[in-house]
This record gives sequence, structure tokens and C-alpha cells, in this order.
Amino acid sequence: MHRKRLVVLASGTGTNLQALLDARDLGGDVVGVLSDRPAALALDRARDRGIPATAVELGADRARWEAELCARVADHAPDLVILAGFMRVLSVGFVHRWPVINVHPSLLPAFPGAHAVEDALAWGVKVAGVTVHFVDELVDNGPVIAQEAVDVLDDDTPATLHARMRRVEHRLLPSVVRAFCADRVDRDGRHVRIRP
Ligand code: GRF
Repeated sequence: MHRKRLVVLASGTGTNLQALLDARDLGGDVVGVLSDRPAALALDRARDRGIPATAVELGADRARWEAELCARVADHAPDLVILAGFMRVLSVGFVHRWPVINVHPSLLPAFPGAHAVEDALAWGVKVAGVTVHFVDELVDNGPVIAQEAVDVLDDDTPATLHARMRRVEHRLLPSVVRAFCADRVDRDGRHVRIRP
């Protein structure tokens, strides 16, 4: 089995990218990192490891931006594209070209969107969590691969809750990627099973 080629898309701090870079026995290699933000810390984390890191900024022409992003991803010939805090929605053409997965800070289908942690707190839920899912052309909609609950504490703020979620994400995302790299992820429509 060849080592899988992984491309990570990230808009922000890139702690999930770092978790992938630090993971042992992943069975694959992060061969490229792309961002829509030139200032994204994620790009620096990649460069620190000698991994090609490129920003493709969204301009006035969204279709052109996505075509450029798509071309840069294709340059790396990925087996898997990982959205790790990538804050843009991708079109159907992109998400069907490669397997694409995303990590999201809620137990989907609860609280999709960019403010999941704030929304969960505002709703008053007692249990929040983290989802890793396949990406389709809708926001936070694709088949769930793995989920883990995170208890909400009475005095949680978005920052404290998100910090505990990130600790879970840093374990859950590499475990899913490891399973993917070992060809242990079976998908049947919306139903995904990770074989032991
Ligand atoms: C994570 O909480 C992830 O669930 C969400 O964006 C955040 C990215 O964090 N999609 P980081 O940039 O990996 O630190």
C-alpha cells in the first residue's frame, strides 16, 4: 500500500494541521498546504516543516478563485484533501474530484456553520462535540465519519469550550486520517464505517 498524499486547506491558526504533522504512523504525508489567507499561521507551520504552502486569495471572481485553488491542489496529486479550519465553501466540482474531509466543532447535524461553538452555548446545550465528516457541496452536510462528545460546563465561554473541543479534534482528525490512509474507511451513501 503506498503512502497517501494529503493536502490540507486551512484559513487560520492551523492547530489541527499541526496535529496531523505531529501524528505518528499516519500512513500518509502532508505534501501541500493551501490557504485563502496569506497571513494564516497554518502556512508558517507547513513551511517550518519544509512543506510547500501557498495562499490563493479570493478576489472578485469566485469561480476563478476556485479554479486556481483546484489547480494548486491538483499539482500535489492528493489521495485525500483535508479541510482543517478552512472557512470557504467549495463547489460540487471540487468536492467530487477528490475525497474531502472536514473537522467541525459540533455534533452535526446540530450547529452547522461558522459559529458552531457560540451557537451551541447560546442554545444552552449540555453536551457539545466534534465531527469529522466527508464534505459535499453543502455546508457541514456530508456523511459523518467520526464524532466525539464534549461536556459543556456551566461557566464555559466560547473560548474555553472551543479549547477543549480542539484537544478532541487533535486526536479525532488524525485517527480518521490514519484509518483513511490504511484503506479502513468504508462509505455506503450516508453511512460510513471505520474497520478495525
Ligand atoms: C477547528 O475548531 C475546526 O473544527 C473548525 O475550525 C477550527 C480550526 O482550528 N472547522 P485550527 O486552525 O486548526 O486551530
